[in-house]
Amino acid sequence: MIEINHLTRKFNEHIAVDDLCLDIPDGSMFGFLGANGAGKTTTLKMIMGLLQPTSGFVSVDGLKVSDDPTAIKAKVGYLPDEVFLYDYLTGRQFLEFVADVYNIDSSKKEEKINSLLESFGLVEAANDYAGNYSFGMKKKLALAGIVVHEPKVLILDEPFNGLDPQATRDFKNMLKKMSDEGTTVLFSSHVLEVVEKIVTHVGIINKGKLMTCDSIKNIINKYKSLEKAFFELT
Ligand SMILES: Nc1ncnc2c1ncn2[C@@H]1O[C@H](COP(=O)(O)OP(=O)(O)OP(=O)(O)O)[C@@H](O)[C@H]1O
Ligand SMILES: [Mg+2]
Repeated sequence: MIEINHLTRKFNEHIAVDDLCLDIPDGSMFGFLGANGAGKTTTLKMIMGLLQPTSGFVSVDGLKVSDDPTAIKAKVGYLPDEVFLYDYLTGRQFLEFVADVYNIDSSKKEEKINSLLESFGLVEAANDYAGNYSFGMKKKLALAGIVVHEPKVLILDEPFNGLDPQATRDFKNMLKKMSDEGTTVLFSSHVLEVVEKIVTHVGIINKGKLMTCDSIKNIINKYKSLEKAFFELT
């Protein structure tokens, strides 16, 4: 579903992503791991076409990102590491705005928004300004916003960061459900115990270079645990 081909990104002389090759299988739940500064966010931004590679390229669903960055955005839901919301819109208005951006049929819009508010536990806060939401609530609203158009692919930069245990569990289950229904999910995370429970595949990078990419089953067989794999490889 996502093919990363010899992707390199330099910032001046610093190589943030170094000749990275990765294949994210269709329908997989792919955990992208690495220490702070390893190059995860830089890679995810290049997949989204938000940052130009120094060399190499990415294809999503058979389409080269550089050829049609707009088409990619229609197929993908992207959660950046720092979420962006309009503080002066309520949760409901924000989702209405996003639904309009994606041309969601007006007959389906209200039902869709109500179901998202329900799924993300935001019914009570639906008419409050997003600017007054807590960090976790903002994150949930942003997550609801990126699935409005029912994308085939989700790219999430540290989705569990800042969520409380209940929200982590809810969101983990939600991702699993979407994955079971066929959505391909690629996410970066430092929360190894959550990653280990939900992923089908793992890629670990260190200083921009891919150290391993395998099914979680093979990783556990080889290293005993994801944590051991992480520390051995980074
Ligand atoms: N716009 C930029 N200008 C200069 N250097 C950058 C820029 N963006 C990223 N870098 C550098 O690239 C490297 C990789 O950064 P990146 O944000 O991709 O890491 P990360 O794996 O997402 O880390 P974290 O786990 O802390 O989020 C770092 O050394 C960072 O300083
Ligand atoms: Mg990052």
